Amino acid sequence: MIVLGIESSCDETGIALYDTHRGLLAHALHSQIAMHQEYGGVVPELASRDHVKRALPLLRETLTKAQVQAANIDAIAYTQGPGLAGALLVGASVACGLGLALDKPLIGIHHLEGHLLSPLLASQPPEFPFIALLVSGGHTQLMRVDGVGQYSLLGETLDDAAGEAFDKSAKLLGLDYPGGPAISKLAQSGDPLVHQFPRPMLHSKDLNFSFSGLKTAVLTAVKKYPEALTDNDKANVARGFVDAIIDVLVAKCQTAMKQTGLKRLVIAGGVGANQQLRAALNAAANASNPKKRFQVYYPELEFCTDNGAMIAFAGAMRLQAYPELATKNYSFNVRPR
Ligand code: KG4
Ligand code: ZN
Repeated sequence: MIVLGIESSCDETGIALYDTHRGLLAHALHSQIAMHQEYGGVVPELASRDHVKRALPLLRETLTKAQVQAANIDAIAYTQGPGLAGALLVGASVACGLGLALDKPLIGIHHLEGHLLSPLLASQPPEFPFIALLVSGGHTQLMRVDGVGQYSLLGETLDDAAGEAFDKSAKLLGLDYPGGPAISKLAQSGDPLVHQFPRPMLHSKDLNFSFSGLKTAVLTAVKKYPEALTDNDKANVARGFVDAIIDVLVAKCQTAMKQTGLKRLVIAGGVGANQQLRAALNAAANASNPKKRFQVYYPELEFCTDNGAMIAFAGAMRLQAYPELATKNYSFNVRPR
């Protein structure tokens, strides 16, 4: 079965073809980051218009790369939500139009399921069951994953998402959108002893997170400098922030592994690209006490942030597990929330 995947929930247009026998055939991506940068964040109307421009050329590019005729696609998967309503509508209408023209079934995919299953696209994928830490710009969740479609929420953020905390703190330091990669890079040259920021909910016994206080602590620290921050000051604040957020993310993962007794941890979503997080998780997974050891799995770096491959893959997995989900009812609705 060949599944076409279409992702357009935010500021990336992603198209991919996944074959259940041969794996990922091809994918193409256009990021709008440069376009939104001058506004300091994603402008929804501009995002929608750009998806309109990009979707069909990227589709042609993907079909050519994969050497697949559109008529040979078996099903079309598109991101149904969550995301920006206008942006989602573009992907959904492209999927619907293609489905109608080619007489192929559609399946709407939850964007987070795409992220959640993306580590299974790696060359050495984890087996079920596993714990997943989903850390993106809009969500921070710990899930237990027993199979495709078998997800239980163990904990989530009570306020800001991890990616949001990265982006907002980076903005306070005058860094460009999206701030996650920028603040992490800056943190590498920072002194860890200058700023000790709070680790919200580190010791709460549950698996929930809270990051808005950390962002406020960064704001307070920035305001305390009597003059404009030097590059060195910024690096120190960045370091304090990154160390704090990573401590919390790692500690919650350890608690989840301990509470469930599972031995596989999967990291998904944009923040999963963070090198400090990866290093800290790898260290935690190699605990000196063998009973506390676990294995960590990451998606390929290019599939951490939004992409079409994860949607094509999630569509294929869902259709294999639940074929009745395929529909030729071409009236679509998106679910921004
Ligand atoms: O998963 P994603 O592409 O989109 C959503 O579904 O939200 O995640 C985007 C988020 C942004 O907040 C971005 O700053 C963050 O992931 N991010 C990072 C890194 N790369 C992307 N955060 C920290 N370190 C990174 N290297
Ligand atoms: Zn995403």
